[in-house]
Amino acid sequence: MSEKVDKGARKGAGNKSLFSLRSINPALPRNKKFVQTVLYGSGSCLSLGVALSVGISPAFAMDLLVRMGLFGVVFFTCLGYFFHKVVQIYGEHRKYENHPGPTRENFFSGNYYTMRRAQSKQELFVLLGQWCDECGDTFVFWRYELPKFFTSSPDVIRSMLTDISMFKKHEKIPNRTLFGQRITGTSSFLTVVGGHTWAAKRKVMSPYFTKIHLAEMFDVCRDYIERGMEKQMESVKLGETEVDTVHFYGELFQFFIGALGFDLDGDYVSKHAHEHNRIMQLILKWIPLQFGTYKQLLEMRFDPEVNETIKGIDMFRRRGLHILEYKQKELEEKGENPHDIVHHILRANKNLSQGDPTEFLMDDIMTIFLVIDNMGKTLSTVFTRLMREPVIYAKLVEEIRKADVSSLQNMDKTMRYTEMVLLEILRLHPTLMRGIRITTRPTTVDGVYLPSESMIFFGQLVLHQHPKYWKNPTEFIPERWESGSKDIVPFTYLPFVAGPRVCMGKHMAMLTMKLSIYYTLKNHNIRPPAGQEKEMAWDYRFTIVRPNKGFHTVFEPLAA
Ligand code: HEM
Repeated sequence: MSEKVDKGARKGAGNKSLFSLRSINPALPRNKKFVQTVLYGSGSCLSLGVALSVGISPAFAMDLLVRMGLFGVVFFTCLGYFFHKVVQIYGEHRKYENHPGPTRENFFSGNYYTMRRAQSKQELFVLLGQWCDECGDTFVFWRYELPKFFTSSPDVIRSMLTDISMFKKHEKIPNRTLFGQRITGTSSFLTVVGGHTWAAKRKVMSPYFTKIHLAEMFDVCRDYIERGMEKQMESVKLGETEVDTVHFYGELFQFFIGALGFDLDGDYVSKHAHEHNRIMQLILKWIPLQFGTYKQLLEMRFDPEVNETIKGIDMFRRRGLHILEYKQKELEEKGENPHDIVHHILRANKNLSQGDPTEFLMDDIMTIFLVIDNMGKTLSTVFTRLMREPVIYAKLVEEIRKADVSSLQNMDKTMRYTEMVLLEILRLHPTLMRGIRITTRPTTVDGVYLPSESMIFFGQLVLHQHPKYWKNPTEFIPERWESGSKDIVPFTYLPFVAGPRVCMGKHMAMLTMKLSIYYTLKNHNIRPPAGQEKEMAWDYRFTIVRPNKGFHTVFEPLAA
């Protein structure tokens, strides 16, 4: 970093004056920004009055202001605000003038419209990749006047993911609320920003998700996936039904988690898998749109599906309440059962001093229902791709038909190729395609100064197809995983991210996805519906990637 910028940055970092450029902190809450706007507006009105008084005459100044009345006040407030904005943006641009970054489209909007256009064509990550080529691994881009940062440097990503005192999660994780309806809330183990609450919860929940514990629960997991698949197949006519795999596997996993985690008397939750999946898909569809344009927000207000979603979330949470009451009683009467996920959730929340404990417990229950869908989306991607890769498909099927799923160990031993296919799918089509962290204090990474509360992104889609780290990066080659991940440059393969906040359900996800592939292909073949043999596309506009073309599948009997 040049000395000039470094000096300016350090000076700025310590400056707390309300009227200094530095104090216009992009991360200020809205109400503080409003107060600043009013102060700048009235300040400029006052300055104009003083300037006119001194320069011309006080009487003329008074007369002019009285004549202009309210209109004048509003006009000068706007004018003052406009000039203040220009000075502010200029100041911010100056601060980063020596940092690499793409050319701004214009002074006010920065790179915002360039990015929006790329986003609407589903090419945002292509654009970010190009910017990496042009500007280097870590660069600054502009969302209007706000500098944001993007990195594809494994070293920077390592700091972002491992130094949790310096980089925290984003406070505005989208799945917290939908138009005020609480979904996963503010401190579930997924949404909690950091600190003591996160550490305490993670410590209690992690043992449930370890490989050793999953090996103990393997038979139960396998039986639920098998039963779930049988149930899903009941409505499928072999050779005819065009199965929507996003819903099919979404529902399978709602059944699975219902049965494994929440069922009170056998099928209290799992029997609602169809309804739960429908609501989850609605939630995942509408949540990201809350962060769209004002027009989209307005349209959402009037969309009956959004109301339906809000009601659905409310229903989910009420059902969760019932589960909690039941399990709390069970825990008190029979003691803790290490295989029961709700018992872990109850214990994880026990000594936390937070508002209404029931609401916080519910946030964690909702989180489980929500994250389980990642597996549905991943499997739908697996089959969308596999059906169009005949050589890989044949090799996989050959392995599956001979596989042994009597224990986790045997499954892992006899389904090596399936694991390689999954790893390769998660490389080319990561279900979570980007990560964001916020700096907790000013820092310099990769030569770029980041003030406190800066937003820094990395993109799995960019990293996983970076020619610097992968041979033939865009090709689907499961064989590249033959020797595991030992040849992979650390922090360049992040489908579950890494570090202390690595996906807690990573092993459970791999285990249940393998079982689902096994029970899908053991007794059936699959093929794309007629006329869709070549169609295949993914929707990258939202946080959770899903296929939006080619995801329908026809199941065939084995003999076919
Ligand atoms: C294919 C399936 C899955 C994928 C691709 C996936 C991916 C991820 C990723 C990328 C994160 C990090 C998000 C971030 O830091 O911004 C994450 C976090 C998390 N995942 Fe998963 N996940 C999957 C399945 C699951 C399952 C099945 C569970 C549990 C039942 C789960 C539980 C969690 C939790 C609790 C966190 C938050 C961990 C923390 O912040 O400490 N995930 N997951």
